[in-house]
Amino acid sequence: MTAYDDDALRAEMVATCRRMNALGINQGTSGNLSVRNPRGFLVTPTSLPYERMEPKDLVQMFFDGSYEGERRPSSEWRFHRDILASRQDVDCVLHCHSVYATTLAVHHRQIPAFHYMIAVAGGTTIRCAPYATFGTQALSDAAIVALEDRLACLLGQHGQISLGRTSAAALALAVEVETLSRLYVQALALGEPPVLSDEEMGRVMQQMKKMSYGQAPDPEGAADVPRRRD
Ligand code: 13P
Repeated sequence: MTAYDDDALRAEMVATCRRMNALGINQGTSGNLSVRNPRGFLVTPTSLPYERMEPKDLVQMFFDGSYEGERRPSSEWRFHRDILASRQDVDCVLHCHSVYATTLAVHHRQIPAFHYMIAVAGGTTIRCAPYATFGTQALSDAAIVALEDRLACLLGQHGQISLGRTSAAALALAVEVETLSRLYVQALALGEPPVLSDEEMGRVMQQMKKMSYGQAPDPEGAADVPRRRD
């Protein structure tokens, strides 16, 4: 196991936040990011645009809700803390107000299995949590329920949350959720699209697992395609 490098993690988080803006899934002071570390977790500071944010501005938080340093943590530190505390399968929480995901969220619409890629979020739907005021325990509680057995959810009249082992994985999933949301909004223009059956979505999930789909390729070849070694 490699030693924990606080500077490297802070630099990676700043890069991820700036990438979030460059990709067009976030803007202004919306959005926040947290990553677990040996002392608790690092989280973006509140109300600081990412273009002006430096590695030292990231806030060290602890699971009891306390923090250290000059900067105040994101107003959404509760859901970052609660997700990281209750989900040992993830180490990173990314939140943004991407336009198409939020378009569905303002209508309290979950995303059904209208497209097989819904499975990348871990199930047959991407749920939408009911509305609760930003920065509250009620919002955190609602997010935890919507994220059960999932890696992403929408937040009613608010935005989206995506989870991952790394900030790169959480960012990639947030982009995927935004793309699926855009496709769904466009598909709805022709009427409610048909959905794939639970049985088919089960096969899709099996297939993704078998192929390590959407993850860095396993050099030993987890895929079902034989690899030549000569
Ligand atoms: P912070 O600047 O406090 O992280 O808030 C942004 C946000 O998106 C609130 O939901």
